[in-house]
Order: sequence, then C-alpha cells, then structure tokens
Amino acid sequence: MNKLIKHALEAGKKAYAPYSKFSVGAAVELNNGEIITGANVENASYGLSNCAERTALFSAYAQGYRKQDIKAIAVVTNTDNPGSPCGACRQVMSELLPSNAKIYLGNHKGDLKETTIEELLPYAFKPSDL
Ligand code: THU
Repeated sequence: MNKLIKHALEAGKKAYAPYSKFSVGAAVELNNGEIITGANVENASYGLSNCAERTALFSAYAQGYRKQDIKAIAVVTNTDNPGSPCGACRQVMSELLPSNAKIYLGNHKGDLKETTIEELLPYAFKPSDL
C-alpha cells in the first residue's frame, strides 16, 4: 500500500462523523516530502460538515503552503470500492491543487484509483472566470 494512502487511512480514524458514521481520511503530499492529513468533521447542522480532502487542503494552505508546493492528495474510505470526492471538494481541489497533482482514491483494502482534477471536474469554474 502506498505511503500516502497509509497516512490517509490513519487520518480517517480521527474523523468526527457521528451523524453519517462514514469516516474519510485524506493526506496531502508536498514537494518537500511533508504530509498534511485531514478527516471529515461533521456538525449537527449537517450542511456545515467538512469533507476530509477539504480539511487536509485547508490545513496545508493555513500552514502557508500553496498549490505549487503540492504534489499529490490521497482520499481513503472504508468502502468496498474507492470513494469519489463530492462536487464541493472537486471545486476546491480545482483551485487549490496544481493541475498536474496526482489524486489517489483508495480504500482500506488497498484498492487504488489514480485520477486528475481535469478528469474529476472538467470545465471547472476558475478564478479566471470571475
Ligand atoms: N465525505 C468526505 O469527507 N469526503 C468525500 O470524498 C465524500 C464524503 C464525508 C462527508 C460526510 O461527513 C460523510 O463523508 C458522508 O457524506
């Protein structure tokens, strides 16, 4: 199992998901080798919940890193097949990840899909569209 997936799997154990009981972990790999993780954090006002991949990316940005510092992101679920990022996360990834970032979608069994933001969100709304 790839190292980034292992970090994401570990991060998923820290999810706060009392409502959906669906834990998701994410790990962002930086070009300097550092790995920044995140998990989903839910709220009784359901719509305020934050997905794992957004938690990890926001955390990287909050630490001062930017898209050019990011190499890859992994998102891991405990499902039979690797999960798929929601629309909100695709939009956020399209702005916060470099276009060549590797996106790994995995699960606890070691199944792995590799994709790109262009594949996940073609014709995205971009800062240049403002
Ligand atoms: N979730 C994520 O954290 N990432 C995904 O890619 C899909 C969904 C979370 C949101 C919510 O806390 C729970 O999974 C069920 O939708």
